[in-house]
Amino acid sequence: MDREANVHPTFCQAFQVSFEYPVVFSRDIFCPANLTLLEVFERSPGRSPRRCVFYADANLVQASPDFLARVHRYFAAHAGRLELAGAPVVLAGGEVAKRDWTCVEPIVDRLIEAHLCRHSFVAVAGGGALLDAVGFAAALVHRGLRLVRLPTTVLAQNDAGVGVKNAIDYRGGKNLLGTFAPPFAVINDFEFIKTAPISAWRDGIAEAFKVAVIKDAVFFDDLCRMAADLARRRFAVMEELIYRTARLHLLHIQQSGDPFESNRAKPLDFGHWSAHQLEVMSGFQITHGQAVSVGLMLDATYAFLSGWLDADELARIRAGLRAADLPIWHPLMERRLPDGRLELLLGLDRFREHLGGELSVTLPHGLGAHREVSEMDGRQIEQALASLKDGLVSCCGSLGGTG
Ligand SMILES: NC(=O)c1ccc[n+]([C@@H]2O[C@H](COP(=O)([O-])OP(=O)(O)OC[C@H]3O[C@@H](n4cnc5c(N)ncnc54)[C@H](O)[C@@H]3O)[C@@H](O)[C@H]2O)c1
Ligand SMILES: [Zn+2]
Repeated sequence: MDREANVHPTFCQAFQVSFEYPVVFSRDIFCPANLTLLEVFERSPGRSPRRCVFYADANLVQASPDFLARVHRYFAAHAGRLELAGAPVVLAGGEVAKRDWTCVEPIVDRLIEAHLCRHSFVAVAGGGALLDAVGFAAALVHRGLRLVRLPTTVLAQNDAGVGVKNAIDYRGGKNLLGTFAPPFAVINDFEFIKTAPISAWRDGIAEAFKVAVIKDAVFFDDLCRMAADLARRRFAVMEELIYRTARLHLLHIQQSGDPFESNRAKPLDFGHWSAHQLEVMSGFQITHGQAVSVGLMLDATYAFLSGWLDADELARIRAGLRAADLPIWHPLMERRLPDGRLELLLGLDRFREHLGGELSVTLPHGLGAHREVSEMDGRQIEQALASLKDGLVSCCGSLGGTG
């Protein structure tokens, strides 16, 4: 702009806002003797009793029929210090919880009807989808209420529930509306995952392999050792997986220097460009975790062909995923468009668009380390697919849906 056009000097507004929130790992948080929840609510100064609107995932409530009674008992046991602003609200869980804007309205309305002030609390116990929807609503009312997340699936505890974002799907676009809004606190109660569906367990395991392969070689080794026990749903090993994966996600946000992803920082999305595309191509019949596992194996094979992983490292990734009962192949990966192009490659275009026009794909570079690339070679992807398929034939003798 022409300097002469400015009638007064430009005022450069600048300030910093710091965020801090605890991510607590506990068990049985609604036992009245467990003070975790009470201490979280009382973490910052304010008037007692701390008022709270409570939302719960319908599938959690169905799987644990005494859940609501236990919430009531906990608040009653600490009356004077905690208060439920109305009965807990049970909402449908899963992707329908965040399907579109109409899911948010009743959540917002309930918060307004409860006459919450900005120092009141919104607590939500559920899978990542419900946490996202309630988190989005809580970020809007009075420009942001205090959100306490109680994640109840493996993926919600080790990934979706511990970060600084929320989102709902809108006009067919996944996570199209949302905000960056750090929670007031997160409490991971390991008891919750006992009733979560097996598909949700696998999704969380796939995300653990995702971070371990590119960030932490020791964790990767441990995951491979734990894999068979994870597939058998052994709780003790799953607790360790959740803690270590959540920590890596939290450190990634903390150390990126760009927690709201305004500049260069990106979420940890190794294996995700093809995973998202496979989910779309299957009409969401493939779960996110299955798609991620297949996507990890494809990108690891691509990295091998680039000389960034050796044959032994690639074989160990594959063996780890298989031992955890995760798929490494899906027949849809070979589907072609009428012009002969691999349909999977559309995922790269979508990914580029999502990243703001410039592609950046994270690939392993040795185990526990990674590099970003700004281009993926179509022919090398074809080669990676062929070699993956060859490997399946030689190792299994035939090609199943999941390898
Ligand atoms: N905000 C973020 O940073 C972020 C990051 C990653 C993923 N996500 C989002 O998280 C969502 C996936 O989360 P998810 O994997 O937890 O799946 P989910 O929320 O869809 O839950 C899976 C299923 O388990 C049910 N459920 C949840 N807890 C249960 C329990 N303890 N017992 C019985 N049933 C239970 C749910 O109702 C649902 O049917 C996606 O929408 C994704 O976009 C968000
Ligand atoms: Zn993911």
